[in-house]
Order: sequence, then structure tokens, then C-alpha cells
Amino acid sequence: MNITNKTILITGGGSGIGFETAKLLSQKGNKVIITGRTEARLQKAAAQLNNVYAIATDVNSETDINNLIARIKEEFGSLDILINNAASAYTYKFGEAVNAYDKAADEIQTNYLSIIRLTEKLLPVLSQSIEAAIVNVSSIVAFVPGINLPTYAASKAALHSYTQALRYTLAKTSNIKVFELMPPLVNTEFSAEIGGANGIPPQVVAEGLIKGFEKDEYELHIGQTADLYKLFLSSPQEALNALNQDR
Ligand SMILES: NC(=O)c1ccc[n+]([C@@H]2O[C@H](COP(=O)([O-])OP(=O)(O)OC[C@H]3O[C@@H](n4cnc5c(N)ncnc54)[C@H](OP(=O)(O)O)[C@@H]3O)[C@@H](O)[C@H]2O)c1
Repeated sequence: MNITNKTILITGGGSGIGFETAKLLSQKGNKVIITGRTEARLQKAAAQLNNVYAIATDVNSETDINNLIARIKEEFGSLDILINNAASAYTYKFGEAVNAYDKAADEIQTNYLSIIRLTEKLLPVLSQSIEAAIVNVSSIVAFVPGINLPTYAASKAALHSYTQALRYTLAKTSNIKVFELMPPLVNTEFSAEIGGANGIPPQVVAEGLIKGFEKDEYELHIGQTADLYKLFLSSPQEALNALNQDR
């Protein structure tokens, strides 16, 4: 698909993969709206880039989401691409003295339910675009769980399933293309606790998304995700063992 002259919303666009994606898309002549909860970080991020606008929003707050959509309509008039990138994650193992229920509730809310709500509310706006897209950022753990992020992995598996169903439905009924970006370990703040420093740079993930847009490739297995996915297709058990060998 064409990725210039579009208006694009990136949730969690003030840092990491979202920020690098905002940078590349703004350089390609798009208007990019970035959101996140931390106003100061967002403003700092937007100030470094051209044509990037910050709107502080908690994806888990329906009031914030309604306000965001009203501002998009009023200040931008249209929206062509929604990138659901914001997420939360907890690193722990089952059996440790942790409150897994609360952690899972936050992950499911942020990484799954809030995406469903925002997407549903934006579908009428995206439908008015000549060529629109939704990108859901899941993970390598969407098809093989990492046991040190067990409930996060489950939330991304739910997102993967939802994304496939959404893609198939919208392909038949609309002009909206549905992409899924599946990064491996990436060096961002998010992954610091799980050895993220050994991960690939977030710019590489952003470049992978741009290539995916250009080729209309809908499920994007970035870096090591591609190898693990191949192994998963031949042997789900071997893929599970491979991802968890050091854990
Ligand atoms: N890093 C990895 O190894 C890795 C691997 C695979 C997939 N991913 C996925 O990549 C995406 C981006 O992660 P990242 O690595 O770039 O991490 P990051 O730099 O920590 O970015 C996450 C962003 O989400 C925002 N956010 C979190 N909760 C939010 C909420 N309730 N409302 C609005 N914004 C919220 C954060 O901003 P505020 O805190 O200011 O709200 C932050 O800007 C996530 O979906 C993650 O699951 C990451």
C-alpha cells in the first residue's frame, strides 16, 4: 500500500518501536499522531520530529479514547492508519510469590481488550479513507509462549487470533488492510528485565513494518521470529523448547 500523505495514529509512540516507526513514517511525508500516558515524554518525542503530534492518552481509559477520537476528527479530519503498539508486560514465573491474576488482568486489558475498543471506535473513521490499515503489534511469543512472560504471551496470543479474524472479515467487507507486526527481542525499555540489551534495535522493527506496508505482507515475522515461526510450523514442541532453553 501507499504510505505517504496519510494520517497515522501510533499508540505508545513516545518511545521504542512506536517512536522509531513515527520517525520513519513522518520522514515519508505522513502526519503522525503519537499517544502515551506520559505527557512530558510524548512532547519531547514529538519535538524531535516533523509532522508528529502528541496527544496524551491512556489506552485503558474510555474517556481518554473518546477524547482522542474527537480531537482526531476535529484537528486532522481523517485517519488512514491505526497502529496498536502500546502494551504492558510483567516478567515472572508461575509459582513465584506473585499476584498473577492482577498482572494478567492489566496485560489483557492493555494488550487485548483496549485494542478491540479503540479499533471498533475507529472503524467508521478508517472506513472513510481510500486506503486504510490497522497494524497490531504482537510478538514472537504470540505463537510460542516464553515462560518468563507467561500471561503477557497469552495476551499476545489472543491479539494474534483477533488480528487474523479481523483481517479476514475486513478483507471481504472494506478497504482496510490488517497487518500484524511480530518482533523478536528488541532493545527497548520494555525488555530491559529480560535481557533486551541483546535484542535487535527498534529501528530494524520499524523498517520491517515499512517494507511490509510496501509489499502488502500482512503477517510480519521480524528477525529471529521468522526462524522460530518456521520451526513452530514443523514442530510446535521444538519451538517451545527452543524459545525457553535458557529459562
Ligand atoms: N521490546 C521487545 O523486546 C518487544 C518484543 C516483541 C514485541 N514488543 C511489542 O512492541 C510494542 C512496543 O514496545 P517497545 O518495546 O517499543 O516498548 P516501550 O518503549 O516501553 O513502548 C511502550 C509504549 O507503550 C506506552 N504505553 C504503555 N501502557 C500504555 C497505556 N496504558 N496507554 C497508553 N500508552 C501506553 C508507553 O508509554 P507510557 O508509559 O508513557 O504510557 C510506551 O511509550 C509492544 O506492543 C510490545 O509488546 C516488544
